[in-house]
Amino acid sequence: MLKLVHASKIYDRSGVCALRGVNLSVRRGDYVSITGASGSGKSTLMHILGLLDTLTEGRYLLGGTDVSGLPPQALARLRGEKIGFVFQRFQLIPGMTALENVALPLTLQGVARPERLARAAEALRAVGLSHRTAHKPNQLSGGQQQRVAIARAVVTRPCVVLADEPTAGLDPEAAAEVLSLLDGLHERGNTVVLITHDHTAAARAARRLYLEGGVLSG
Ligand SMILES: Nc1ncnc2c1ncn2[C@@H]1O[C@H](COP(=O)(O)OP(=O)(O)O)[C@@H](O)[C@H]1O
Ligand SMILES: [Mg+2]
Repeated sequence: MLKLVHASKIYDRSGVCALRGVNLSVRRGDYVSITGASGSGKSTLMHILGLLDTLTEGRYLLGGTDVSGLPPQALARLRGEKIGFVFQRFQLIPGMTALENVALPLTLQGVARPERLARAAEALRAVGLSHRTAHKPNQLSGGQQQRVAIARAVVTRPCVVLADEPTAGLDPEAAAEVLSLLDGLHERGNTVVLITHDHTAAARAARRLYLEGGVLSG
């Protein structure tokens, strides 16, 4: 489903080599965690896998298609169709309700309003937030905001959910809830890549990988 072959990333301006010859294969339904110290290249890897950035060297195959070298518009379209993101800082839109935030990716895909709202409501129900659909992000706790972000990530039925340090800003109880939601996604057949510096969180995944200085090992 996802495959990186000899993938390297050098940031142009700084010349920092953030990924070095990474080979990675993630199959449908896998639950993979990637742990590494700060600066080891975790977010860079997430940006590459999520089509938010491109490789300097190597290839990236997503669902059998070689996406290296695709133009930005094609990458943006694929990103919307195939990738669900969960970020450390939630990245919800402040002026929108929970329901509107979750429905937004469907708007971008041109899904009609009634279906959009129904699917967003169902996604919020699945994360236990049916009673918070009309709340704005600043009326929700950090844990609730991250659950909204998880609902938004899965509402498009993506090929893969990429979570970058999704529990880093949360208290232990909220963090545990977020991790069990990710476990639940995996149990229902979703492909999940969990990026974290927390080894306890990483241990929940079936497959554990480690990043050190841009080098990935199993
Ligand atoms: N946009 C960027 N431009 C230049 N260097 C960057 C950029 N983003 C990250 N880096 C550098 O790449 C390395 C890996 O960073 P990052 O992927 O954010 O690591 P992590 O998420 O594991 O903390 C670091 O040395 C960082 O300073
Ligand atoms: Mg990071």
